[in-house]
Amino acid sequence: MEVVVLPTADAAVAYAHGLIVEHLKAKPSTVLGLPTGATPLGVYVRLVESYRSGAVSWRSVTTFNLDEYWGLGEYHLTSYAAYMRRVLFDHVDCPLRQRHIPNGCATDAVAEARGYEASIDQAGGIDMLLLGLGRNAHIGFNEPGSPFTSRTRLVDLAPLTLAANKLHFASGEEPPGQAISMGIATILQSRRIVVLATGAAKAEAVRRSIREEPNVEVPGSALQFAQDVTFVVDEAAAGA
Ligand code: GLP
Repeated sequence: MEVVVLPTADAAVAYAHGLIVEHLKAKPSTVLGLPTGATPLGVYVRLVESYRSGAVSWRSVTTFNLDEYWGLGEYHLTSYAAYMRRVLFDHVDCPLRQRHIPNGCATDAVAEARGYEASIDQAGGIDMLLLGLGRNAHIGFNEPGSPFTSRTRLVDLAPLTLAANKLHFASGEEPPGQAISMGIATILQSRRIVVLATGAAKAEAVRRSIREEPNVEVPGSALQFAQDVTFVVDEAAAGA
């Protein structure tokens, strides 16, 4: 495990972006795992700039998002599918058939989850996964208590996550209490993982993920078992 501490959130974002661009240049047909949330927004802005400047192409890239709210269709403004179109896919040349996000409105969650795992396998597995960290150290939507052997499945969201994510929903709208998320074992199979965490609110999650004995109450601690993982954090997130 490697931990890179940068002075500011912007520097951490720039560093993570640099790692992704390097990877896309080295392997244009990269299978890339992608997160949502506020933390990676600056990475997406920079990735779009890199596409526009001609530094990288997305034509041969295959993407798999970590998760989607259960019950939200791809055209719901707060769905992760809509988020990804807004911040990345509407602006780069990644073909629709190569972009994967769990379907939050599937009729059968078990079949959807199984199909998602099969698609990852068919693509040859994830080469590089960019990951955020929840305040309770969740990864994807794998909340505390998630087995390290878990695969893509329907999960219940923790109260802390619901409170944090409520900000993104229109006033009066209740965020879904469930999501389809890649499992921890699915995440750990990625050949390279870059965890981006910034701000003091993430310091405890970063500290516990890196320093505690791996345990299911701290999903991020499972990353200690990853093949190749780099935590990219700013000083505030490194502070605890
Ligand atoms: C959500 C996502 C996670 C993300 C986390 C942190 O719950 N499912 O993948 O890492 O939020 O988000 P933020 O970057 O907004 O703090």
